[in-house]
Amino acid sequence: MKNPIEGYLGKGEGGKRSKVPAKLDRWQSITGAILGLFIMGHMFFTSSILFGKDAMYYETKIFEGSLFLDKPQPYIVSIAVAIIFTIFIIHAGLAMRKFPYRWREYRILKTHVTTINHTDTSLWIVQAITGFMMFFLGSVHLYLMLTIPEKIGPYASADRIYSDKMFILYSILMVSVIVHAMVGLYRLSVKWGLPQSDNPRLIRQKAKKAMWIAIIFFNLLGYSALSVYWKIGYEHQDRYGERYHPQSKSIEKGVDI
Ligand code: HEM
Repeated sequence: MKNPIEGYLGKGEGGKRSKVPAKLDRWQSITGAILGLFIMGHMFFTSSILFGKDAMYYETKIFEGSLFLDKPQPYIVSIAVAIIFTIFIIHAGLAMRKFPYRWREYRILKTHVTTINHTDTSLWIVQAITGFMMFFLGSVHLYLMLTIPEKIGPYASADRIYSDKMFILYSILMVSVIVHAMVGLYRLSVKWGLPQSDNPRLIRQKAKKAMWIAIIFFNLLGYSALSVYWKIGYEHQDRYGERYHPQSKSIEKGVDI
């Protein structure tokens, strides 16, 4: 072991504290920022279905590399999922360090929240609960996207959502991921990014307002898209498994989805 004294006592020689916790904290912020920004993009991408089946089909082909390959390749999506899944697991692992595991720790946290009555402290509890939910629900979704990327498309996704009953999982995952991502980005901005000002309270209030607007906006967008997938899946249930063919042949390139 590199430094056994620090390993046993949590302090190095001369009473110096380890820099590792601060480094881990920074990595938690970096992975959180990547995932938060990714989720905003993701909600726009899945919402392409609001513009019609052709729009979603075309977008799916682009993610499979249709702009630079002769034949779209779903494995490209798997590579992207593997990267996001890895960041997701690292982020969850780093965040778990701060969970109150013992009853005593939980009691201290609860007393802290009720006596101080500070919104940003309460938001930390929201993060812990939504993060815990996402860890299980998000993993199911990511595993499916990783292993069957070829089954993404207007009918394939709608069949999964309606006939395979994924709408139950997505309905719970949606609100937890949006709240978690937006609260997380707000907390990051308070911690690292808000501009210096004579009135920090006002800046913080503005950031919190932006957070609430984003939560409402992405929930409306996400649940609207989910309803459209659900409706397409409902209408398509008798032809479950059939792939979508776009109206315009010019956007059909290679593979049916
Ligand atoms: C590169 C990684 C990802 C890919 C390729 C991906 C892809 C998709 C696709 C294609 C859908 C449409 C429904 C379906 O086909 O099953 C979807 C829906 C959804 N995804 Fe992801 N996803 C990824 C990462 C994530 C992550 C990390 C989360 C959150 C933990 C997430 C949460 C959701 C939710 C809540 C829905 C339903 C919302 C909607 O219909 O707009 N996804 N995703």
